[in-house]
Amino acid sequence: MTTRHVGILTSGGDCPGLNAAIRAVGKAGQDAFGMRLTGFLNGFRGLAQDRTMALDSNMLSGILTDGGTILGTSRDKPHRMEIGGRTRDMTDVIVDTYHRHHLDALVCIGGGGTQKNALRLQNAGLNIVTLPKTIDNDIAMTDRTFGFDTAVSIATEAIDRLHSTATSHSRIIVVEVMGHRAGWLALEAGTAGVADVILLPEIPYDLNRVTQAIRERTRKGKRFSIVVVAEGALSRGHAETIAKLVDQKRGAKRKADRDRAAANLREFHESHVGNTIDLTRQLEEACAQETRLTILGHLQRGGTPSAADRLLATRLGTRCAQTLVEERYGVMLAVHGQAIEPVALDEVAGNRKLVPGDHPVLESARLVGTCFGD
Ligand code: F6P
Repeated sequence: MTTRHVGILTSGGDCPGLNAAIRAVGKAGQDAFGMRLTGFLNGFRGLAQDRTMALDSNMLSGILTDGGTILGTSRDKPHRMEIGGRTRDMTDVIVDTYHRHHLDALVCIGGGGTQKNALRLQNAGLNIVTLPKTIDNDIAMTDRTFGFDTAVSIATEAIDRLHSTATSHSRIIVVEVMGHRAGWLALEAGTAGVADVILLPEIPYDLNRVTQAIRERTRKGKRFSIVVVAEGALSRGHAETIAKLVDQKRGAKRKADRDRAAANLREFHESHVGNTIDLTRQLEEACAQETRLTILGHLQRGGTPSAADRLLATRLGTRCAQTLVEERYGVMLAVHGQAIEPVALDEVAGNRKLVPGDHPVLESARLVGTCFGD
């Protein structure tokens, strides 16, 4: 049996390059390999509710440079989906939809959560190929994800612009960028934008080290400072509390104790991690210097992809079409140096790529004097 009819969906937070990837899978699949493509709308929900879009060449034309995704997206999970006010396991319904459409394979384009959900569907008997996208760049087993390069450029430009206003007013400006668990975006945009302090989730910070670095700049006559903070950055004290709560959860023998420990952990995380408003106040007080906060938020995910993301999404998409022809399933297409290679989905799902302590960009940033709060 050859791959003739392919379903495709985008899932998780959107990012620049999704349309470029859909176009590449579709054009290569249809024009070079004679496949038919059906899009499913709004992530896995489209499969659960059988909502589709025929992806003919008209639909695929002129979309490479568009931000967002023509298919729509959602964070819905096949095994836990809100349907009609109830949370339901829709896996069997999704499997039925796949067979009713006589699909030979399903392409899932998404981030870490999507890889896990795609593996669940592979284990339920579907033929799955995935592509890695996210502005967080935190998917395991791939050097890069598309969307990241664009987000780095947007955040870098914002930091550049904040420099001139910080200088004019002699202020500290705190810039929050996305990244709950991984600090790739903060590291690269902060380094490219010449931030004085960069705080990452991977390196719990000591507020005293940050204030020392800012005071040192003042002593040298620099009257402003730029502090780039990943939204998941946390202080040493908070990191220690979280480690204790995790231990409590792991050590709990009874279900009731485990649930209580999990709730405590969630509550602590929600109220203390990523609280850049508190951090801004603390810095203003400790440094006795006027301080402002800018949260870049979803600006980082919007708009047209950079040239590098257009190329990466196109390469991943066309390689995906080739992989479908080879009938190689249960894989994610990954970037390894210059090459794009399939890697087993079960080695990707559930793992996250974090910034290692010896990453070359981190080392360079330290050598040019950037403070990481440690
Ligand atoms: O998935 C990427 C991401 O942009 C994260 O960096 C961010 O924490 C999250 O999505 C925001 O999600 P949402 O758009 O659902 O608020």
